[in-house]
Amino acid sequence: MRADALAKTFRLGFFRKRVEAVRDVGFDVNRGEVFGFLGPNGAGKTTTLKMLMGLVFPTRGRAEVFGLPVPSLAAKRRLGYLPETPYFYDYLSPEEFLDLVGALSDVPPVERRKRRDRLISRVGLDHARGRPLRKFSKGMLQRVGIAQALMGEPELVVFDEPMTGLDPVGRKEIRDLILELRAEGRTVFYSTHILTDVELTCDRVAMVFAGTIRSVGPLGELLSARLLSTEVCLRPGAQGLPPLPAGASQHRAVEGVAVNLPEGTDVDAFLSAALAVGAHVLSVSSHKESLEDLFIREAAQA
Ligand SMILES: Nc1ncnc2c1ncn2[C@@H]1O[C@H](COP(=O)(O)OP(=O)(O)OP(=O)(O)O)[C@@H](O)[C@H]1O
Ligand SMILES: [Mg+2]
Repeated sequence: MRADALAKTFRLGFFRKRVEAVRDVGFDVNRGEVFGFLGPNGAGKTTTLKMLMGLVFPTRGRAEVFGLPVPSLAAKRRLGYLPETPYFYDYLSPEEFLDLVGALSDVPPVERRKRRDRLISRVGLDHARGRPLRKFSKGMLQRVGIAQALMGEPELVVFDEPMTGLDPVGRKEIRDLILELRAEGRTVFYSTHILTDVELTCDRVAMVFAGTIRSVGPLGELLSARLLSTEVCLRPGAQGLPPLPAGASQHRAVEGVAVNLPEGTDVDAFLSAALAVGAHVLSVSSHKESLEDLFIREAAQA
């Protein structure tokens, strides 16, 4: 799947006020990977997804799915989509609803029932399989939405905020499901603003702020490039502590003193100096930039 310099400007109201929902979004999603599309509220995630799904026509740029320009019926048959606000026929039960979804995508009846039953268990709705959807909680509906997206056994799964409305256990289940889908060789693309989920599941991410992509790449590459600081815990020796390097700070720790060395300090030299004054080194830990740090840094520049 590819977004190539996608842009979308909406025109609102009588004065045709322009809303630039997406300004410049480009990325490639590779086969078999889990790709996270990250951004704060209103960044343009849903609008981008809708352009990729052929539901919104781009103002500029091109969208491709399976190498075919969007919209393509052939591509659509090979993908499953969970919209941000799915619409359900709420008098149906999950069984009936999934059966209908299967019928609409031409899955033969016997196979349809098999898939439906497997998916209902997979998203943890066995206990409510015959209950009408209008009696479902938000998290339960989200699970039905996910099951619905998988009815066609798609090669590519596109989820708009799949963890929304789920409790921590539910979120873990969906994360596991995403990893299972990848293990089965499927490609997963999902949007979110929940950073932990991305850290735990995604091979690569794209970050979008105010309709513009700020960074794309493997999480490790985006993050590990920046070692923020190193913390050394010491128990002072007979001659106390070594002199602190420039920019370092210290505070009392449980067993001694924790010294915080900023990025770029010669840690080896500091450790030698500590040993030279007879101090005991209790621990050395490096603080790499977390996804949250990166997100905040990028958001500040947006
Ligand atoms: N149909 C529309 N008409 C006018 N403006 C729109 C329309 N759809 C979206 N927008 C605007 O485009 C911007 C991006 O919206 P979008 O729903 O794509 O964001 P998002 O990243 O999915 O946010 P969230 O995390 O809240 O779901 C917002 O300012 C929104 O108000
Ligand atoms: Mg959205």
